[in-house]
Order: sequence, then C-alpha cells, then structure tokens
Amino acid sequence: MSPHLREPNYYLLGFMGAGKSTVGPLLAEKLGTQFYDLDLLIEEMEKVTIRRIFETRGENYFRQRETELLIPLTRLRNVVVALGGGTFVQEVNRTLVQSTGISIWLNVPLELIRKRIQDPLSRPLFRSPQEMEALFQQRLLFYRLADIEIRIDEDPAEIIAATIVTRIRNLTPRF
Ligand code: S3P
Repeated sequence: MSPHLREPNYYLLGFMGAGKSTVGPLLAEKLGTQFYDLDLLIEEMEKVTIRRIFETRGENYFRQRETELLIPLTRLRNVVVALGGGTFVQEVNRTLVQSTGISIWLNVPLELIRKRIQDPLSRPLFRSPQEMEALFQQRLLFYRLADIEIRIDEDPAEIIAATIVTRIRNLTPRF
C-alpha cells in the first residue's frame, strides 16, 4: 500500500533523557490513540533489561532486535511510538519511520540531559561525560532529519504534548 494512502504514525525521537517515554503516553491520549515504547517492547521480548542485553549480547545484537521490533510497529496506523535514542540513526529504521509516519524530535539541550540522567555511567553507551557529549553531537546530524523539531527547556510534559499536537495539525499533509 502506498504510504500516501494511510494514516501516519507519530514517532518520538531524541537523545536519552529527552522525555520520549514520558511525553509519548500524553501525546497518545491527546490524539485518542495507542502508545508503544520500543525500548520496553525489546525488554519484554528479551525478558532482560536493555543494559543487560548490551552487556551480554553487545550493541549489534541490540540494534538487530530494535529493527525487528520496529517493523511490526510501522505496520500499525495512527499510533504513537517512542523510539530509542539510537533508533533513528540507523538508516534502515529511518526509512521505515519516514515512510510510515511523522517523526518528531524532542530537542533537549545537553545541559538538561545531564541533569536528567542522574547516573550517566549506568547507561550502556558511554563511559565518560566526554563520550556522552561526543555521542550527542554525532546524533544531532540525524535527529535534524525529523519532520518536526520541538525545542524543549524545562517545560512540563503535558505542555510539550500539547505543542506537538498543534505542530502536527499545522503540517502540510504528506500522507
Ligand atoms: C540508546 C538509547 C536507549 C536504548 C539503548 C540505546 C541509544 O533508549 O534504546 O540504551 O543508542 O541512544 P532511550 O533513549 O529511551 O534511553
């Protein structure tokens, strides 16, 4: 089916700590639809935490599972999906997302991310603040490809969700 004939999904993307999993359910509620959290689905399927998957199976295995579980979500219609921080970076995932919905980047400054991630070293992807910053900079190149950018400061999640709804309604239809 042509992607232009279907109702789009709404994909939230952005760095770890951007608030994708918090804003997602609120956005789904406002749109009167279902919410899916890709990271949670991976943990449910694997029956272990993502951190553990990285430790025991490595990042490549995680990325493979991530794509495998993203595919069925992209076959749904009109749902909200919180992606992981690295999902949109992979070309295969980006193509899936861009052809089935509207991508929404929660653009949070690094300072705020640092504040939000209490224990950054507990995250599987960086072992030092420098590594975290380097990854953040690298990711921006991909996040900028999103259809909608929402600049976030300390705004409450409810306000962010409402802003997204307005931005979605103002989008020129592509689907
Ligand atoms: C990752 C972010 C995490 C999770 C995994 C990899 C990343 O998701 O998918 O640890 O590559 O940035 P959150 O952004 O939901 O924390």
